[in-house]
Amino acid sequence: MITGASSGLGLELAKQFAQDNYDIALSGSSDRIFEAADTIRDLGVEAYPHKADAATFDGVESFWSFFTELKRPLDAAVLNVGIGLGGAFTDTDLEDELRLVSINISGTVHMTKRVVQHMVPNGRGRILIVSSISATQPTPYETVYGPSKAFGYMFAESLREELRQTGVTVTALLPGATDTNFHSNAGMDSSEIGSSKKNDKVLVAKQGYEALMNDEDHVVGGDEETKQQAEDNRTTPEPVKAANHAKRARLQN
Ligand SMILES: NC(=O)c1ccc[n+]([C@@H]2O[C@H](COP(=O)([O-])OP(=O)(O)OC[C@H]3O[C@@H](n4cnc5c(N)ncnc54)[C@H](OP(=O)(O)O)[C@@H]3O)[C@@H](O)[C@H]2O)c1
Repeated sequence: MITGASSGLGLELAKQFAQDNYDIALSGSSDRIFEAADTIRDLGVEAYPHKADAATFDGVESFWSFFTELKRPLDAAVLNVGIGLGGAFTDTDLEDELRLVSINISGTVHMTKRVVQHMVPNGRGRILIVSSISATQPTPYETVYGPSKAFGYMFAESLREELRQTGVTVTALLPGATDTNFHSNAGMDSSEIGSSKKNDKVLVAKQGYEALMNDEDHVVGGDEETKQQAEDNRTTPEPVKAANHAKRARLQN
């Protein structure tokens, strides 16, 4: 199962699974999820699309019910759905920020709970949590987004240790900026990050898929420069990283 698979990294991750002959249940909030399912079926596997809003408790629960009613085994779960939000914290709408927290944090905890309580009694399963390189630095002008992804990263690493003896593995994917609709949807087109060259989503999805299959605790998704940035972030002081990010994320209009 993959959440947020209408487009972007979720859809590319679905293609990785399809190439290895997995059937896939996939969710999104728009009708594009049905087109995504057609794309996956064209790769020769079965696709089960479900439309629901991952920002609400009922929306998350409805995808889980949809999945369990399929009566199919759950080999892997990809907790991918996530949104961004650019802009100065003094200006952004509280509602938008709380929606981001609902999708990126509450929704991830909710779906992971269902997945873990299903997988552990079976003694097997793989979980991929899509975090971000933003988890390794402060993210001014996306001030709530980065910390929501830091949650996902440490949540994955915590759960991984708890589940070590259960046969269920947990991996975090930390992509650098990637060529999806993400920055545009976050209202960041006019920022330096929004308009600069990004990582190839096919490469990032492949790296995430391989890390999941190889039972790695986490992987940084992207080119060598992105991996070097994540490495540098381990030793660069937070205020320095914050100042660099502010320059790149500040909206120009
Ligand atoms: N792109 C990057 O630069 C980047 C970098 C690091 C991490 N990430 C992470 O990668 C993940 C995927 O993002 P992406 O880059 O692929 O962005 P994207 O192209 O905007 O895709 C987001 C996906 O989530 C779905 N979605 C959005 N809101 C939803 C909601 N309320 N309920 C259900 N589904 C919803 C969308 O489907 P619908 O359109 O059908 O709603 C779409 O399939 C996110 O967790 C993001 O934080 C992205």
